[in-house]
This record gives sequence, C-alpha cells and structure tokens, in this order.
Amino acid sequence: MATVTLINNETGEKFDFDLIECTRGPKAVDFSKLFEKTGIFSYDPGYGSTAGCQSTISYINGQEGQLLYKGMPIQDIVDKYSFTDVAKLLITGEAPKNKDESVEFELELRHRSFLNERLINILSAFPDSAHPMANLSSAVAALSTFHYDYRDPDNRDEYQVMARRIIAKIPTLVAFSYRHSIGAPFIYPDISRGYVENFLYMLRAYPGNRLKYTKDGETEITPLEVEALDKIFTLHADHGQNASTTTVRNVASTGVHPYAALSAGINALWGPSHGGANEKVLDQLREIGDVKNVSKFIERVKDKSDPFRLMGFGHRVYKSYDPRAKAIKNLKNELNKKGIKMDARLSEIAEALEEVALSDEYFIKRGLYPNVDFYSGIILTALKIPVSLFTPIFVIGRMPGWSAQLIEHLKNPHARITRPRQVYVGK
Ligand code: CMC
Repeated sequence: MATVTLINNETGEKFDFDLIECTRGPKAVDFSKLFEKTGIFSYDPGYGSTAGCQSTISYINGQEGQLLYKGMPIQDIVDKYSFTDVAKLLITGEAPKNKDESVEFELELRHRSFLNERLINILSAFPDSAHPMANLSSAVAALSTFHYDYRDPDNRDEYQVMARRIIAKIPTLVAFSYRHSIGAPFIYPDISRGYVENFLYMLRAYPGNRLKYTKDGETEITPLEVEALDKIFTLHADHGQNASTTTVRNVASTGVHPYAALSAGINALWGPSHGGANEKVLDQLREIGDVKNVSKFIERVKDKSDPFRLMGFGHRVYKSYDPRAKAIKNLKNELNKKGIKMDARLSEIAEALEEVALSDEYFIKRGLYPNVDFYSGIILTALKIPVSLFTPIFVIGRMPGWSAQLIEHLKNPHARITRPRQVYVGK
C-alpha cells in the first residue's frame, strides 16, 4: 500500500500513513490514527481538505466541472431518467430496468404521499409568517414521532421504507407549508397524478380540487412544466459531502432517528451560503433592477471592506462552470423557446452579471462561476413558484441524495460518531 511520510521538523520523528485508494479523484491520507501515532491533531476548519467518509453515490470533479451520479454524467442522467427513477437509482443503487419498474416505484411514492391528519394539525398551529423551511424541518422532525418503526438497524428493508416514505411525503409537506403561509386550505395529494405533477397540483388547486378556471375552461398543468420541474429536481438530487449532507451524516452518527438527521439536513440547507442562495439570487436580481446597474453591483461585490457577495456564484469544489448551472441555463433558454416564458428582464440581468463577472479579474483569479442556484430561480418563477419555495424545492430534489447518503452511513459497520477535536487557545 502506498504511504505518505509526515516529518515533525521540531523532533525529527517520521510517521508513515497509508494512502487510501479511490476510483476517481484525489486519494486521501488515512489520518484516523494521526493522534494516536503522533500526539497531534490535523487542523482543517471548514473541512476543505478533509474527506469524512468513503462514498459511492456522487462524484464531483471541480476542475473539469463534472458531476456524476452512480458513475453517470449528470447531463446523461437528466436526459435519460425521470426524477423518481433517479431517486430509485440513488437509494437502491439501481435505476429502474424497464418501464414497469419505473412505474412501480413511482406508484409506491404516490401512495405514500399522504400525511397523518395529526401531523397536519401540528403544522396548522405554526404562524402564517413562518418560512416554509422552518415548517419543513419541524415537520420532518415530527415525522419521527409518527413513524417510530425504525428500530432495527439490521433490518435493511427499514432503510428503504424510511427513504421512500420521506421522498414521497416531502412535496406534500412543501405544498402544505405554502398553502398555510397564504391562509389557503390544504389540498390533499391526487394519486391519479405523477410525482411532479401532483406537487404542482397541490400548490395550484382551488378548494374542490379544481385547477384555475378561465374563459377557455380549466387550466392544465402542462407536460412541459412537469418536465422542467422534474429536471430541476434531478439536478439537485445529490452532491457529495456538502454541508447539509455532512450534517445528515453527522447527526445520524449518534444513532438518532433518521428523520431527526434529515430534519437537521434541511436546517443546514436553509442558510444562504448553501441552498438558501437560490432565494437570495432572485432578491439580488430584483434589487439590481436593470442591466445598466450591473457594473456598479459587481464593484460592490468586489469591495473587500464589504462582506456582500454575488449570490449564486462560487463554490467550494467547482473552480470551473458548475455543470448543474450549465444545464439549468440551457433548460431556461430551451423552455423559453418552447413557450414557458421567462421574465426577460431578470434573465437579461442574470446573463449580464455572468458576462461581466466571467471577464473580471476578481472572479477569474478566484475561480468563481455561476453555481446551481444562479439560474434556477428564473425558471421557478416562470413556473409560478413563489420565491419562499425555492429552497424547499431544493429540499425535494435533495431528499433522495440525503436518504442515500444516510443509508450508506447506516450500513457502514466502521462508521463512528462524528467527534472532531479542537485546538485550544483559551485560558
Ligand atoms: N461573491 C464574491 N466573492 C466571492 C464569492 C461570491 N459569491 N464566493 C467566494 N468569493 C471570494 C471570497 O471572498 C474569497 O476571496 P478572498 O480569497 O479574497 O478572501 C474567495 O472568493 C474564496 O471564497 P471562500 O469564501 O473561501 O470560498 P468557500 O469555498 O469557503 O465558499 C461559497 C463557497 C459557496 C460559500 C461562496 O462561494 C459563497 O458564499 N457564494 C455565494 C453563496 C452561494 O451562491 N451559495 C450556493 C452554493 S452552490 C449550492 C450548494 O450546493 O450549496
């Protein structure tokens, strides 16, 4: 086995550490016995150089702007599979082999999409003004009180039920949170509709379970809208050991109920440095208001005395164009051509921001490119989804990834409780 040698220049001592093999990307030095061998810790705030686990789910090459799910490039996945196929791929390791398997899995999700009435009662007590992300994390934590059947860590079937149930219910919870926030009555899932269509239906339907009536009759949820949202979910489905996934694993490492760990993941995603950025991007585009203000805005972003950042730009891993951003930008232009009209002003400002930023020394030097959150809000707005639901949409998309990562963690007999050290500098 290849090793690396650490030399303590103070004492002259040498220590060998194994290099862990991998199938793609950088190898890692196994520092798990660093302290036992040397009496010192490694220091890596933000874990920029630290691998917390070995994983088989998704792979990112940040230099080349590449993202793979289960070894397949993201663009191929988006072209070939529906979101529910991707969910199956991630949580079981196998995509549906044929149409029947695909339909069977999707139907299972439809039938699991209902909420316990008592959960609805609990959520009804939240203030209308609550952010949907707060409702969601609370609701998922509360699900652990309704589904306490996760007891036997050796029963692998329980992991699958746990994952399928939450993937099925999360759109219902998001729709519920939205309707609650506007004081509208809750619309129950309609199992005659597919996973994505049903979500749009629960957002849009009127009491009596009808969609909007116009002089031309009842409006439809179009296949193009469903396809667009399906692709957006897929593009968010998994992304290595990002902050929320790491949170899910860390919380799960204590042996807690899986829904408590997933609830923690939702909270981690909420922050504007992570999934919450998609909401802030739209705020910024609206604040800029006009293409002529873009240069002034970029100057403010570059001002180091101001902590202000260009939202939807930059990434810890990608130092080139985020492939998800590329796919979302293409999708935006394609949908626009096919008849889902994007807000032309917002779209123009976003593209001008990108153009100015990508030719600016500040962004070039730091490898700052648009990330997944930069263009998604423009499409979501065209799908009539309110800004407060942008991050919850990310939650729906990411749930299969979190669930898969959680299962991978729970199945790992060598996984230990997460318990980093500290460098004490106090009294
Ligand atoms: N605008 C302006 N400057 C930036 C930005 C930005 N969006 N992002 C990074 N920088 C600068 C930063 O100031 C630093 O400059 P310097 O070297 O002079 O101090 C340098 O680039 C490196 O930044 P960092 O903060 O050390 O990078 P990080 O890896 O710790 O942070 C990030 C990554 C995503 C939190 C950060 O790029 C950011 O805050 N972006 C805006 C928020 C955003 O869009 N988040 C969504 C991320 S993608 C969705 C997801 O998976 O979460």
